[in-house]
Amino acid sequence: MNPVIAAHNLKVVRGGKLILRVDELAVEKGQVLAVVGPNGAGKTCLLHTLALLEPPASGTVRLFDVDAFNGNQLALRRRMALVFQEPLLLDTTVKRNITLPLRMRGISGREANARSDRWLHRFGIGSLSARSARALSGGEAQRTSLARAFAMEPEILLLDEPFTALDYPTRKSLVDELGEVLKEMNLTTVFVTHDYSEIPPLTEQVAVLFDGRIVKRGSSREIFGEDFLKKKSYAPWET
Ligand SMILES: Nc1ncnc2c1ncn2[C@@H]1O[C@H](COP(=O)(O)OP(=O)(O)OP(=O)(O)O)[C@@H](O)[C@H]1O
Ligand SMILES: [Mg+2]
Repeated sequence: MNPVIAAHNLKVVRGGKLILRVDELAVEKGQVLAVVGPNGAGKTCLLHTLALLEPPASGTVRLFDVDAFNGNQLALRRRMALVFQEPLLLDTTVKRNITLPLRMRGISGREANARSDRWLHRFGIGSLSARSARALSGGEAQRTSLARAFAMEPEILLLDEPFTALDYPTRKSLVDELGEVLKEMNLTTVFVTHDYSEIPPLTEQVAVLFDGRIVKRGSSREIFGEDFLKKKSYAPWET
């Protein structure tokens, strides 16, 4: 079977500068890929390109075996969900943050309610359903944002450092919960992170991005070694 996500000879230019040049990147169906790299490496740019938010200067992105930038981009975007570092919630209740986007896609009120209940419960915030999204803590807001993404029932999930703003215990429990959900769902996922401790609960597949290029791709053991989490400071793009 062909990969769900495949990028070839991708070049992205911003402000006259070449900021991304990815020769080859493939993510198979059900695979979770962690993308790591220093500030400014091009991680967000790569994710935005895969989400069809920014067209490349050259090269191709194939999603579900469709040449995405020359295909029906709206139809493809509806098959994926994005979660950013900032939750970007609507100024309404937690529940409506989940049901409104579903209703806009023509999903019945009954089905939207059922999905909202299921995913809010799954991410441990079933009791916050009627709460205003403005009155949520950072961790609760990110749980809402994850529930919203899963309620869309996407076939591709793209996450850009979703837990960076959270304190350590909140981050740890949310990463573990997300890891469990991803294992169950067999959902093709690209996960950008700065924090290597987030990788093991989610996946063993890692790509290292440096200066706009994928300089390493393999299992976390191949890239980091057996005991990478014990090292205080470690830059895999330097080895
Ligand atoms: N519109 C733009 N014009 C010029 N340069 C840009 C533009 N957008 C991004 N860049 C540059 O492209 C590079 C990659 O940016 P990107 O946001 O993808 O990095 P990142 O790996 O996500 O970094 P961080 O870890 O800080 O989130 C950076 O050097 C950034 O300054
Ligand atoms: Mg970024």
